[in-house]
Amino acid sequence: MLDKYEGKAIGITAIIIMVFLFSLLYVTGKQKTDVVECVPYDKTYTTPRINQIDSTTYQVFAVAKMWNFEPSQIYVPVGAEVDFFVTSGDVVHGFNIAEKNVNMMAVYGGINKTTVKFTEPGIYKITCHEYCGVGHQNMQAEVIVNYPNNY
Ligand code: CUA
Repeated sequence: MLDKYEGKAIGITAIIIMVFLFSLLYVTGKQKTDVVECVPYDKTYTTPRINQIDSTTYQVFAVAKMWNFEPSQIYVPVGAEVDFFVTSGDVVHGFNIAEKNVNMMAVYGGINKTTVKFTEPGIYKITCHEYCGVGHQNMQAEVIVNYPNNY
C-alpha cells in the first residue's frame, strides 16, 4: 500500500517524464530531421555513389577527402527523401547542408547517416565545417533540387 507522499512523488515523476518526452517529440518533429545515426562500418560505403530506390527515395554515399566531396553534385527531384551515408577518406571533415539543419562529421573508418527531405527546389550547399588543411575553405558540394522535367 502506498502512503500519500509516495503517491504524490510518483505522480510528480510521471508528469516530469511526460513533459520531457513531449518536448523531445516536439523538437524532433519541428526540425524535420533525424537524429544522426552511426552505421556499422562496411567498405562498400567508401565508394561514392547515388542510388535511386524509387521515384522519391534516394541514398547518397558521400566520401569527404582532402579537399572535396564525392559525389560533388547530387540531383534529386522536389519531394525526394535522401539518406546520406557520410564517411571520410582521410582526416576528419564536416558535412553541413545549408538550410537543412544537417551538421555531421565525416570520419575515416566510420559512417554517419541522416535522412533529409527536400520539399523546395533550390541549390543546397554542402560545406566542410571542420578545419582540415589548406584546402578546407574550398571544400564543398551541392544538392540540386528541381522538378523532374526541369533538368
Ligand atoms: Cu574538409 Cu574542412
